[in-house]
Amino acid sequence: MSKKLYIETLGCAMNSRDSEHIIAELSEKENYKTTTDISEADLILINTCSVREKPVAKLFSELGIFNKKKKDGAKIGVCGCTASHLGAEIIKRAPYVNFVLGARNVSKITDVIHRERAVEVDINYDESEFAFDDFRTSPYKAFINISIGCDKSCTYCIVPKTRGEEISIPDELILREAKRSVENGAKEIFLLGQNVNNYGRRFSGEHEKVNFTELLRRLSAIDGLERIRFTSPHPFHMDDEFIDEFAKNPKICKSMHMPLQSGSTKVLKDMKRGYTKEWFLERVEKLRALCPEVSISTDIIVAFPGESNEDFLDTLDVMNRVKFDQIFSFKYSPRPETEAEHFTNVVDEDVASLRLTTIQDLNTKILDEKNSVQLGKIYRVYFEDLNSDYFVSGRSDGNMLIKAKGSDELLGQFRDVEITAIGRTILTGKIID
Ligand code: SAH
Ligand code: SF4
Ligand code: F3S
Repeated sequence: MSKKLYIETLGCAMNSRDSEHIIAELSEKENYKTTTDISEADLILINTCSVREKPVAKLFSELGIFNKKKKDGAKIGVCGCTASHLGAEIIKRAPYVNFVLGARNVSKITDVIHRERAVEVDINYDESEFAFDDFRTSPYKAFINISIGCDKSCTYCIVPKTRGEEISIPDELILREAKRSVENGAKEIFLLGQNVNNYGRRFSGEHEKVNFTELLRRLSAIDGLERIRFTSPHPFHMDDEFIDEFAKNPKICKSMHMPLQSGSTKVLKDMKRGYTKEWFLERVEKLRALCPEVSISTDIIVAFPGESNEDFLDTLDVMNRVKFDQIFSFKYSPRPETEAEHFTNVVDEDVASLRLTTIQDLNTKILDEKNSVQLGKIYRVYFEDLNSDYFVSGRSDGNMLIKAKGSDELLGQFRDVEITAIGRTILTGKIID
């Protein structure tokens, strides 16, 4: 009889893909099947995120709950970025945890489940060429890792300490995985890396130096593949060649994530982001000139140490000029083992909160303006999800979430949809073709 796996995934898309790898390895090699009922699970895993303080604090309260709910003999494992940075400390604080598996050690999952109190968190471990078994949550969209780790040293960020140095996955492995997912029904692939457009700088073995633009070209030659998305590109590496290819390649979705972090050149310097406010605005201008329909999303951190009111106004200025289509905004959260952890010019908590609300209010205003012209517009939607009330939903090329009346026959299909109602998180439309 198969054993039951309960797995909770926090954090970014890379963690979601790691969870798919974990599920694949455990089901193929150890005969596990997933369950959503924690009390029947033989193995309970939490795939953690460390990027801000809050989710880390939540981990220990959640582990306590798991320990109460689990059946006799069930094991608990902590995986992911918090596993990498806290390591054995997790078992000290929660002694009922059976093993700890870092974000860079996913391929060892079938080993650690058999070793009591195993702690595998080596961030120099290289699994860039490991052939994981295949499991995908969605048959319609395939998430594919193109690199592991991150070589940047943004002063606020813990990721290089949890995922180690950047290594690109050889392009033939990526191409093979993309072809296989297309054969299995995916018309869209989503390439993942902390810094995708730095692709090709370092491989673990001897390898042809293929850069990200060339990788995109090679992937777009796959028959049956219709859409390519990726995250995250770094504004510093958005060279002309990349923007040109993005604009002219019809298979690349016209939605770009451009993580700004701050609009102030001074703060960007303190963050070690490697670009200025002017560079960012110039890249946006170039992108929009070549690709006017592009939608642009971003990440913004407010109240980084030393961020003055003037610096903050620079961020608002960039928002007003660019008019992002989506913003993920965060209050700066000091992280262990980062440079900024030691910065002393901390911004007051109430100022930080006010700045975050100001960003969010301005964003809502910009989005409402953008949404107000959507009625009657027609978008090509790739349907991926069945919603409860006889609706299916999917995304436009520009990454807008759109739902329409329909059944599961529409999943994995493209349709033209005319927008009939506007909502802040999702648009509603009717299928016209
Ligand atoms: N590699 C991606 C970022 C991954 S982390 C990139 O460079 O864009 C996702 C986002 O979390 C970051 O873009 C940043 O906005 C936010 N973030 C990272 N560290 C943070 C911290 N210490 N405090 C607040 N937000 C943080
Ligand atoms: Fe963190 Fe910077 Fe790397 Fe992104 S590029 S993961 S923000 S260090
Ligand atoms: Fe992702 Fe969180 Fe790790 S954002 S890379 S899971 S710290």
